[in-house]
Amino acid sequence: MNDDKDIVVGLDLGTTKIASVIGEVVDDGINIMGVGRYPSEGLRKGIVINIDKTVQSILKAMREAEMMAGKEVGGLYTGIAGDHIRNILGRGVVAVTGVDNEVTESDVNRVLESAKSMALPVDREVIHIIPNEFILDGQGGIRDPVGMFSQRLEANVVIVTGAVNSAKNICKCVSKAGYEVNDIVLQPLASSYSVLSEEEKEIGSILIDIGGGTTDMAIFYNGSLRKTSVFGLGGENITNDIGIGLRTSPTEAERIKLEYGTVKEIPKKGEEDGIMVQGLSGRGSKQVSHELIQQIVKPRVEEILTLAHRELSQDPLYDLLSAGIILTGGTAKLEGIAELAEDIFGMPVSIGIPTENITGLKDAVSDPSFATCVGLLRYGVLHSGRRLQEVKGKSMFDTVLKRMKQWFEEFF
Ligand SMILES: Nc1ncnc2c1ncn2[C@@H]1O[C@H](COP(=O)(O)OP(=O)(O)OP(=O)(O)O)[C@@H](O)[C@H]1O
Ligand SMILES: [Mg+2]
Repeated sequence: MNDDKDIVVGLDLGTTKIASVIGEVVDDGINIMGVGRYPSEGLRKGIVINIDKTVQSILKAMREAEMMAGKEVGGLYTGIAGDHIRNILGRGVVAVTGVDNEVTESDVNRVLESAKSMALPVDREVIHIIPNEFILDGQGGIRDPVGMFSQRLEANVVIVTGAVNSAKNICKCVSKAGYEVNDIVLQPLASSYSVLSEEEKEIGSILIDIGGGTTDMAIFYNGSLRKTSVFGLGGENITNDIGIGLRTSPTEAERIKLEYGTVKEIPKKGEEDGIMVQGLSGRGSKQVSHELIQQIVKPRVEEILTLAHRELSQDPLYDLLSAGIILTGGTAKLEGIAELAEDIFGMPVSIGIPTENITGLKDAVSDPSFATCVGLLRYGVLHSGRRLQEVKGKSMFDTVLKRMKQWFEEFF
């Protein structure tokens, strides 16, 4: 065990890999001392489905980082998958009862309470309510109804819900592996600490993390997290498409993607420039063109970016986000993806790679796949006084629920 105050540890439980990074706080940033990585077995899309396997994967990734750093660690910051937070649209209605039917603060609170009372999926808890608009006697589009006159007050709201029990499972697996959870952080919020500047969060920006199994989106404005959203498509879908298109194994398809995957137009080349692909068992190998691979990869990437655009462009803040888009996660390494995203969004797009104020094993983490893990370290440095366990006398459920509320509350 190590209670060294200057040591900070991040553990990212991704869809495809569990990453761990051990760093040391130095004057001008973080000195990276150890990095570990292991396939995420026991989790499905960041949700624990098998405790023992998850514990083993955590141990493998942590041991590797500890070996490299030459020290054992005790406490760590862990990221939880974006799907632990889900937005649901809701609506509340109340009668305005005060003198002259003037809407008061208390009517607004009542209408928000009534929106909250809708039926939620069993695994979800309400952690935050964001009013989209108020409606007075049928007249919509009102942002601040206090002081106006009306019989009936309605509100269209976004209900931010959290999968509290499922986050508790993550904490349990980390403890079973022998580590203390200093704090849990929503993955896209963690990534923002490593690949967005304070200025970008202030003037407004979008973080899109395209990982293996999921695409996470987060909107930042006025220095705050305003919205998160996730859908279940990512780099693994591109690999599957290549496997089907070229009739090859998942391992070979992944290799082809990493070596030759691109969404850039391919200039016509001669046959001799073909790529050798291993066929399925007993089929021998064959040659395919660069163009064919591009034709398989591009439509899937377009689909992912178009879905992200459709979701994000509905947000009322969308047109104000002048810092544009920061793409991160392993799939952001795909050749030509930033240019394609610029075409789809009509906004400036850059690739988020954690490099700022990092020394030591910098090369190992200067990779979009490590945005979340390095972000956890930076979050840990900034919030080192904060401990998840500090809510004494409360159950773990209340502790995790409280932390989820804080992610949003402190940002509004
Ligand atoms: N050079 C590359 N070109 C294209 N794809 C890549 C490249 N390098 C990695 N990837 C893809 O990135 C994906 C993994 O990304 P990442 O490590 O960010 O995922 P994760 O954090 O495990 O998953 P998630 O964030 O979805 O939970 C894999 O599908 C992998 O094939
Ligand atoms: Mg990830």
